[in-house]
Amino acid sequence: MPAHVVIGTQWGDEGKGRVVDLLAMNSDFVARYAGGDNAGHTIRIGEETFKLHLVPSGVLHPGKRCAIGGGVVVNPLALASELQGLAERGLDISPNRVALAETAHIITPAHIALDKANEAQRGDSAIGTTCRGIGPAYTDKAARTGLRAGSMRNPDTFVDQVRRHIEYNNRLLADVYKTSPLDIDTAISGMHAAAEFLAPYLADVPLLLHQALQAGKIVLCEGAQGTLLDIDHGIYPYVTSSSATVGGAITGLGIGPHYIDRVIGVTKAYSTRVGGGPFPTELRDALGDKLRGTGDNPWDEYGTTTGRPRRCGWLDTLVVRYAARINGLTELVVTKLDVLSGFDTLQVANSYTIDGAPVDTLLCDLETHQACRPVYHNLPGWSEDIMHVRSFTNLPSTAQGYIDYLEELTGLPVKTITIGPARDQTIEH
Ligand code: IMP
Repeated sequence: MPAHVVIGTQWGDEGKGRVVDLLAMNSDFVARYAGGDNAGHTIRIGEETFKLHLVPSGVLHPGKRCAIGGGVVVNPLALASELQGLAERGLDISPNRVALAETAHIITPAHIALDKANEAQRGDSAIGTTCRGIGPAYTDKAARTGLRAGSMRNPDTFVDQVRRHIEYNNRLLADVYKTSPLDIDTAISGMHAAAEFLAPYLADVPLLLHQALQAGKIVLCEGAQGTLLDIDHGIYPYVTSSSATVGGAITGLGIGPHYIDRVIGVTKAYSTRVGGGPFPTELRDALGDKLRGTGDNPWDEYGTTTGRPRRCGWLDTLVVRYAARINGLTELVVTKLDVLSGFDTLQVANSYTIDGAPVDTLLCDLETHQACRPVYHNLPGWSEDIMHVRSFTNLPSTAQGYIDYLEELTGLPVKTITIGPARDQTIEH
């Protein structure tokens, strides 16, 4: 009766959706535990590309059940439209396949307007949020003024609650932020229909998961974002507003820790981040551009949710080691190793210095982290295209050496490597 948790070890966008899609084949239930539609998972199956934001990637596997846990914040319009879009593409999205926790909090148009207003007010120190209303929705949750998904059971009273919430926040928008208030009817138009559509999906997700685990089913817990964006363990304030680390799976889904037997860290073979905040191994040159790609392919380094170009840089093993410690990782999956083909030399940060003094662990205080300079270990690259390789021993020896080096530095086994966006572009190790 195990639960497996999938965690991003960097700043999100590690390819967790792709990994969940792979692991879902051997799972019974896939449950999303934190974040909202700030997340974007791109999954390619055959010629088709799916971009998911709220619905767990397990939905792409016929017969698997999916759940959105109470740790998630849900924009009803976004979720209804994502489910409808999947139905139009022939997927079974019936309520007996997809469950939405009654305790999940709702994102409203006022949260989105406040997110934008907050960012504008921060000016140069903007977080670079996705402007999906994530921070304000979690703020209301913690302040005990939020709206829960369970309210959508009665769409009429739900819309009344949303109206009162927008009236209140309109005063904040106008008086504090000096921005235009929302037109209430426009802001809530569609909310009633979305609530009617989503009401049948509402469920007691912790109970469903408990029953599944007790019946010996495998529950795959799908994280969003990454360890360095975690509200507690990331580089605050350049973080998201939820628990992207393993604790978030337990509270966000309402399952006991004893069920968890694998904590799978997903690590991109290099580093990327979107938004503001420090990034010690960032490459602001042609090498960074080469990692990013041109944007012609959906898996190039442009945000799935916002389309923003991602900042790119070398692999930082202090970040991965930090994620291993905070999450108790049991193994790693390395994604996008193919992107590193064609570099003569690959640099991997294995320690930092601050004012010349060595530092061998990631310190998450903002000022300290900003002062860190990476110390690189150089590894030889490879020129071959590796996208067709299907076994570890057939990889160029230098690519094998890159993986061996990561295993050595983290002390974790790299169990799977992905070398392209398709399901079969996977190497088990
Ligand atoms: P928010 O979650 O929209 O409030 O954004 C807070 C920070 O997290 C910003 O730097 C975002 O760019 C970043 N972020 C949020 N979601 C993701 C994601 O799915 N991938 C990568 N970065 C993200």
